[in-house]
Amino acid sequence: MEFKNILSNALKKKSPDELIAVSKKSELKKTLNVFDLIVLGIGAVVGTGIFTIIGSAIQGGPESVGAGPAIVISMILAVIACVFSALCYSEIAAMIPVAGSAYTYTYATMGEFMAWMVGWILMLEYAIGNITVACAWTGYFVQFLKGFKHILPDFVINFPLWLRADYRFMFAYCDKYGLDPHSQMPYMFDKIPFAINLPAMVIVLLLTILLVKGVKESTRFASIMVGVNMFMIISFIVVGSFYVKPENWAPFAPNGFEGIFMGAFLIFFAYIGFDAISTTAEETENPQRDLPIAILGTLVICTVLYICVALVLTGNVPLGHIDIQAPIAHAMRAIGKDWFAGLISIGALCALTSVILIYQLGTTRILYAMSRDRFLPKSLRLIHKKYRTPHVLTWISGVIVILCTFFMDLSISAELCNFGTFTSFIIICIAVLILRKTDPDRPRPFKVPLSPLFPILGILTCGGLMVYSMKFLTTSSLYFPLWLLIGVAIYAGYGYKQKRLEEKLKCQRRVKPKVELEAK
Ligand code: ALA
Repeated sequence: MEFKNILSNALKKKSPDELIAVSKKSELKKTLNVFDLIVLGIGAVVGTGIFTIIGSAIQGGPESVGAGPAIVISMILAVIACVFSALCYSEIAAMIPVAGSAYTYTYATMGEFMAWMVGWILMLEYAIGNITVACAWTGYFVQFLKGFKHILPDFVINFPLWLRADYRFMFAYCDKYGLDPHSQMPYMFDKIPFAINLPAMVIVLLLTILLVKGVKESTRFASIMVGVNMFMIISFIVVGSFYVKPENWAPFAPNGFEGIFMGAFLIFFAYIGFDAISTTAEETENPQRDLPIAILGTLVICTVLYICVALVLTGNVPLGHIDIQAPIAHAMRAIGKDWFAGLISIGALCALTSVILIYQLGTTRILYAMSRDRFLPKSLRLIHKKYRTPHVLTWISGVIVILCTFFMDLSISAELCNFGTFTSFIIICIAVLILRKTDPDRPRPFKVPLSPLFPILGILTCGGLMVYSMKFLTTSSLYFPLWLLIGVAIYAGYGYKQKRLEEKLKCQRRVKPKVELEAK
């Protein structure tokens, strides 16, 4: 009986009408138009994936083999998985235009427990993904400083490694080169090694301050960043295309299907972000029309750019010489365009900055929706009196990312982020199928074509890539279920109780006026 009760509570859904009614009372400002959304989308999508991770996807990483020039096939596979989910996101975002993205949509279809879990998983995508981007930011910042080696003093250009890496990286580095860790980083009380990724921390801190000041200001800033990085990517494609040597494209797929599939799993990171658009539904002027246009538009623009970048990169640099940390800038050096490599670093910094900005925005908006549902304390969703932004949550998410840079590196955080995102995409596809059955008459300004085929294909492609890669990525495949277990524990220990308390209070509020009326 008790178990049955718990189960029925955990499956309690929110009706889309209820969600829309709550969002109408939102204190968030409605300022974003379709252009702002596409800028947000490109700003969220183009970043570490194309500027850094593409190198490992082509060459292979510590636990995976590379795709080689067949990375273009991997990109097509990854985008196919994204398109089906993007269509599903568009259908639901236009139908239930409220903040919270996949979290909110799951609440309407699969109930309270799954909604909490999706919110928890989305934190992998947004907050943990931001650690990847912040780490890559440091890499390009160092490249950028090196471009000024004739002007800046040496201690600025070659500032100590322990100020730009986490301690785990420092140990791995010392191990690789046979160095004594005590000679490479300071030790507190002679026992605790000390290493911090200072550039990553500073950039996250600055962007958190900007986000507290307002979403419109932030998207204005993001549009400048997006403009610069688009210009750099297009210039890379144009300049690099004159130096393409078709013989570099052979062998096309050195590691066969394994390389192509692992490449698709890794490069998937480069497409993540279009879903961040739907997290701003409550701040969009005309969400029904603008959200689907912005989501699909972003995906089309990015895919065309990525395929061109991959063809130029693998055509410019022989396989085996492609750099893993800053492949695009390195490719320009390889063809003798050093000055252009410096410019590429500026473009990469702009791209990574806008990704961090938008991911921080997404994190706080999802947490805002979760706190409104009592999964998190009410005090967290305080709106700033002057700027009208959820400043407490913005600060919390900024500080969490900053703290995590102490012990997480780029590859683990990227893999975890991919696992989280694949899972949330699968859930969105399932949500479309459920809503079509349970709420067939609700107006759908945008409909996924060929449903149920497309949502099912979305589930199969995302699920297939995820399960396949788990075979090889042993470390992150261990962390991912651990993350899920922690989520279950928090729900059982806090969220579940808070939801029951909320129900009790609602019930008392309903009974009280009735009793007073009868007494009169
Ligand atoms: N797609 C984003 C990036 O590549 C997450 O940085």
